[in-house]
Amino acid sequence: MTSTSTPLRIAVIVGSTRDGRLAPTVGAWFMTQATAHAPQTHFDVIDVADLDLPDTHPSWGHERTQEQAELAARVQDADAYVIITPEYNRSFPAHLKHFIDLHHTEWQAKPVGFVSYGGVGGGLRAVEQLRLVFAELHCTTVRDGVSFHRATPDLFAADGPAHDPEGAAAAAKILLDQLDWWAHALRTARAERPYR
Ligand SMILES: Cc1cc2nc3c(=O)[nH]c(=O)nc-3n(C[C@H](O)[C@H](O)[C@H](O)COP(=O)(O)O)c2cc1C
Repeated sequence: MTSTSTPLRIAVIVGSTRDGRLAPTVGAWFMTQATAHAPQTHFDVIDVADLDLPDTHPSWGHERTQEQAELAARVQDADAYVIITPEYNRSFPAHLKHFIDLHHTEWQAKPVGFVSYGGVGGGLRAVEQLRLVFAELHCTTVRDGVSFHRATPDLFAADGPAHDPEGAAAAAKILLDQLDWWAHALRTARAERPYR
């Protein structure tokens, strides 16, 4: 059983896969914030672009390969999740949805936070839809997140024209603080009474 003093484990899921994507840049920015604000936490970055995902779901009779079982164990072992998502046509990427759908009980009774980016939408409409998806998976989503509108690589460059770097860093801290509260609370609750 995990004790309350065991460091939290947060899986950071990088959700876009297209060639030339901005996602790794946003993910690297978030990891800089995360390790600064939550140095005790163990972060596991799962980049959907690196995964060879099956077409079918385990509950439909498909047996997981060892690689897929190891991936499921990483989702299971996390106490909380941060989803890094762009907005595609007012929603989130199809590959991200497929990754989410391939796991089920692994997500349950855990908190989820969001870092989003896009054009004018800043990824916020993708996040609203992801909140519905994670409600179905018995997760709680935290209220505050980080959103970058008109996101381009130079927004994240150390000497780039980031319009509000302090604001984004402050938003990341609020997200991590909310995730920390829920992750501890739900880890304790799951240990006391397994979630069904
Ligand atoms: C197919 C497609 C649809 C998009 N739709 C939207 C949209 O509805 N709203 C928005 O704000 N940005 C939209 N964008 C802009 C993306 O959010 C932006 O280019 C982002 O950097 C894409 O993430 P990625 O580079 O990690 O793939 C779209 C981009 C693509 C490729």
